[in-house]
Amino acid sequence: MSLLVLLHPGAMGATVGATLRAGGHRVRWVAAGRSEATARRAAAAGLEACTDLSSALQGAHGVVSVCPPDQASAVAAAVEEAGFDGLYVDANAIAPATARSLQARFGERLVDGGIIGPPAQRPGTTRLYLSGAAADAVAAWFRAGPLEAVALADRPAGAASALKMAYAAYTKGSAALLLAVRALAEHEGVAAALTEEWGLSQPGLAERCSAAARGTAPKAWRFVGEMQEIADTFAAAELPRGFHEAAADVYRRLAGFRDAEAAPDAVIRRLLDGSG
Ligand SMILES: NC(=O)c1ccc[n+]([C@@H]2O[C@H](COP(=O)([O-])OP(=O)(O)OC[C@H]3O[C@@H](n4cnc5c(N)ncnc54)[C@H](OP(=O)(O)O)[C@@H]3O)[C@@H](O)[C@H]2O)c1
Repeated sequence: MSLLVLLHPGAMGATVGATLRAGGHRVRWVAAGRSEATARRAAAAGLEACTDLSSALQGAHGVVSVCPPDQASAVAAAVEEAGFDGLYVDANAIAPATARSLQARFGERLVDGGIIGPPAQRPGTTRLYLSGAAADAVAAWFRAGPLEAVALADRPAGAASALKMAYAAYTKGSAALLLAVRALAEHEGVAAALTEEWGLSQPGLAERCSAAARGTAPKAWRFVGEMQEIADTFAAAELPRGFHEAAADVYRRLAGFRDAEAAPDAVIRRLLDGSG
């Protein structure tokens, strides 16, 4: 059994914590600055509340970071500055270069992670890919499931993040493109005709567009940072960064839907309004 710290129990993070608890590990979280919703998820997952970071890190073997991607570096910096000397797992949607920059803080104690799938409520839906020297050791923490850990054999830190970037570049990038296309048709007064044409020549696309609106709007605030990390990943590979800069702009306009249900028509109107 290991003593671990989870930063922080969001929708995904709480299921990461629940998997660690299922494996018999003790898992602490830090209540300072976190919302009531996070506290509820942490309690439901059987995590131990600590008032501040330094008390949570006392005697801990590992830290798992699952937070908004644009906060990943700040969370890592706070842990390093607190003098933590155990394994540090960054499981966020960040660019490989960002992941490698964390190695400067933690050296071989950094395990790079990338999560693919929805918050894991049952086996078979969601994988945590891991890379770096200690990837196998960290994968063993998750043996009980339902989140499945997959260590990328002999791949250095940055590889798991690269896989996550490539995957999300298509899923979240294509969702943003679809919403922008639908907004354009609305602006030009041809939305009904486009939907009719989709029905003839692109079966399922209208439904996919509605699903993209409903599925992405509540999380769009968090996707802005993720799209920027993807744009940086493309640029570092000397590929066009513009697709995902535009996707970041789409999600920025939808950020006001944070954690709220959103009807597809309202999402398209918000995109055209552009106010965020
Ligand atoms: N959800 C998914 O389906 C999914 C899928 C694959 C990968 N992931 C990855 O998992 C990570 C987090 O996702 P999630 O679903 O757990 O997100 P979430 O439900 O939005 O939760 C985010 C957590 O981070 C905390 N937080 C908010 N602002 C913060 C800040 N400025 N600094 C530090 N922590 C902050 C939140 O606390 P408060 O409650 O106080 O706001 C909450 O506990 C992301 O890197 C994402 O890419 C998620």
